Amino acid sequence: MEKLNKLEQMLKECEAVLSKEDHPVSNMSNCCAIIQKYFNFHWVGFYLVDDNTNQLYLGPFQGPLACTRIPFGKGVCGTAWKESKTQVVADVHKFPGHIACSSLTNSEIVVPITRENKVIAVLDIDSVEFDSFSDKDKEYFENLALFLSERI
Ligand code: SME
Repeated sequence: MEKLNKLEQMLKECEAVLSKEDHPVSNMSNCCAIIQKYFNFHWVGFYLVDDNTNQLYLGPFQGPLACTRIPFGKGVCGTAWKESKTQVVADVHKFPGHIACSSLTNSEIVVPITRENKVIAVLDIDSVEFDSFSDKDKEYFENLALFLSERI
């Protein structure tokens, strides 16, 4: 299947499956499973904002063991949170302060999920290939994040 076709199908399936459930943990878990069904990335998962500690904490994911806490503004995830802006990193080894949960990751996209203008979580996707994420990936994962803001 073509990449664009996969992105379209992935988004449609997330919208269909997640519309039937309103528990955040269940929806984030199935969202990871659906993304992996189409793309089989090295790692896909959520980090959630903890206002009490000003950190992100690890949420549902698929892939190898990951770090559990990321401070505000740190790493790719903390930067996406701080800037409230998607981070597309073609080569993670060149990103200042990148947090290497796995030495196999070479590129990464992190999309913030906002509700009422506040970041509540980020969707983090890691690839073993360099430069895995195009403008189309950004567009579709941002659309997914928009949908997720009311489903998690
Ligand atoms: N690389 C991320 C940390 C999370 S792991 O990739 C699962 C970062 O720099 O924020």
